[in-house]
Amino acid sequence: MASSAYKLIPGDFTPIPSLAPERVVNLRPVTAFSGEVGAVGVAVTSDADVPDGVGLDREALARVGFDGKLGQTLVVPGPAPTTILVGAGAAADVTAATVRDLAATFARAATSSARIGMRLPDTDRVDAETIGRVAAEGILLGRYRYSELKTEPKTVTLEAVELLVDAADVAGATAGIAHGVVAARAAAVARDLANTPPGHLTATDFGNVAVSLAESFGLEVEIADKAKLIELGCGGLLGVNAGSAEEPRMITIRYTPNDPSTGHLALVGKGIMYDSGGISLKPSDPMHLLMKMDMGGAAAVFGAMTALRDLGCTTTVSAFLMCTDNMPSGSAYKLGDVLTARGGTTVEVKNTDAEGRLVMMDGLVLAAEQKPDAIIDIATLTGAALMALGPATAALFGNDQALVDQVRSASSPTDEQLWQLPLEKKYRKTLDSDIADIANLGGPYAGATTAALFLSEFVDGLPWAHLDIAGTMQSEADDGWRSKGATGYGARLLIETAMTFSPTR
Ligand code: BES
Ligand code: MN
Ligand code: ZN
Repeated sequence: MASSAYKLIPGDFTPIPSLAPERVVNLRPVTAFSGEVGAVGVAVTSDADVPDGVGLDREALARVGFDGKLGQTLVVPGPAPTTILVGAGAAADVTAATVRDLAATFARAATSSARIGMRLPDTDRVDAETIGRVAAEGILLGRYRYSELKTEPKTVTLEAVELLVDAADVAGATAGIAHGVVAARAAAVARDLANTPPGHLTATDFGNVAVSLAESFGLEVEIADKAKLIELGCGGLLGVNAGSAEEPRMITIRYTPNDPSTGHLALVGKGIMYDSGGISLKPSDPMHLLMKMDMGGAAAVFGAMTALRDLGCTTTVSAFLMCTDNMPSGSAYKLGDVLTARGGTTVEVKNTDAEGRLVMMDGLVLAAEQKPDAIIDIATLTGAALMALGPATAALFGNDQALVDQVRSASSPTDEQLWQLPLEKKYRKTLDSDIADIANLGGPYAGATTAALFLSEFVDGLPWAHLDIAGTMQSEADDGWRSKGATGYGARLLIETAMTFSPTR
C-alpha cells in the first residue's frame, strides 16, 4: 500500500493492523467464567470489602504493598487462571471513567493471556450498559499495541474477554459492549494511522486506505489529488506541500444516515503526515520524533467516520482531511510568501512551521460551502496548547457556545478531557499583515488562541468549534485508556458528538 521509495516496506505491511480479521476480539458478558480464561482481573477498591474469592484480606494485601489505589495491580500467585487484582480507588469515587481506566490497566497486566475474564467493581451508580461499554473500551484500548513493524512481536493477541455480570445485567451489558467495541475500534484505527511512520503512510497512502475501506464502513470517499486541488484553489494545502516530493491529498468522506434526522455536521482534520517545520525547520529534539503524528486530527476524524453506520448515527457527517507533509527543499514555500486560500483570502507566511492553519483554512472554506449546521475541526495545531493544558487535556474554542457545550458534554462519557479557552478578539490584530489579508503567525502570547482566531475567519460565520489536540495526541506512558504512543484522542469524542448532535440555530 505504501508508496515511499526509500523504505523497504515489509511485504505484508498493512496500514491499519487493528482491522485485521484475526484481531476481532470476542467480548461477552458471562454470569460465571468459562474454563478458558488464562487470567482473571478483580477490581479492588481502597476502602470497601475485598471481593470474596480473592482469598486475601486487606492486611495481607497491604503487606505486599497493594492498597487498592487506582492504577495499582497485583498478580496473585496460584493455580491457573491467574488472578490479577486491580486498584479501583475509593468506592465512593468509582465512576464510568474509573472502570474504563482500570479495565485498561488490567488488560495490560494480563498481556500474556489471549483469553481473559474481568470482575468489575460493584457500583450502583453506573448502569450495566455503561459498564459494558467502558469495560470494552478500556480493555481494547489498554491492550492496544502498535507492533506492525516488529519482525517478532512479543505481544499475545487478545482473543476473548468475559465480563462477569449479574444475570439481570446481561442484556444491558451486551448492548454496551457492542457500542464500546465499535468506539474502541475507531480509536484503534486512529492510533494505527498516527503510529505509522511517515515513510510508510504518505498522504497518497492515506487516501488509498480511505478508498479501500469506504465500502465496508458505509462511507462515500472522494480524493482530490494535486491537479484537483489546483482546480479547487486550495492554496494553503498546495503551499505547504510545495517542498515535498510527495503529492498532497484532500480526502472527503460522507456518511449519509438511512434516516437523516439530526442535521448535518462537517468535520475538518489536520493531516500533516510529517511536520519538519519546513524552511522554519524544527530542531531534532525528541518532540519532533512525534511529528509523524501531526495527522492525529485527520486520523481521529477518519476513525470516527468508521463508527457512524454501525452505531446508527442519524446526523449526516461530511469530513475533509487535509493531507500533506511539511518539508524544506528548493521548491518549498518560503517566509514572506503569500498564499491564497480557497475563496480568495490572502495569507502572508511568517513562519512555515505554522502550517496547520494553512491547510485547515482550505478545508474550513470547503466545509462551509456545504452549508452544514456546524463545523468542528480537530488539529495538532500548537505547542502552546500543550504548554497551557499538558498532555491530558485538549483545548476547545468556538464561536457558538451552544455548539461548544455539545462538544463539552460529549467529552464526559468518553473521558477525553478538554477545556474551553477564550477566542479573544483583542488578539486578532497580532495576525495583521502589511501585505496580505492576514498573517499565519500571531504574537508571542496565547498561541493556541491566535491560531484559533486565524481559523475562525474561514468558517463563513457558521457555528464552529475547534479542538487543538497537540497535547493529547500521544502519551509518554501507559496511563489508563491512554496507552503509550498515539492515543487516538478525538475519535470517540467525535463519534459521541455526532451521535448527540443537534443544530444550534
Ligand atoms: N504540529 C505543530 C504543533 C505541535 C507541537 C503538535 C507539539 C504537537 C506537539 C505545529 O505545526 C507547529 O509547529 N506549531 C508552531 C506554531 C508556531 C510556529 C506559531 C508551534 O506551536 O510552535
Ligand atoms: Mn508546524
Ligand atoms: Zn504541524
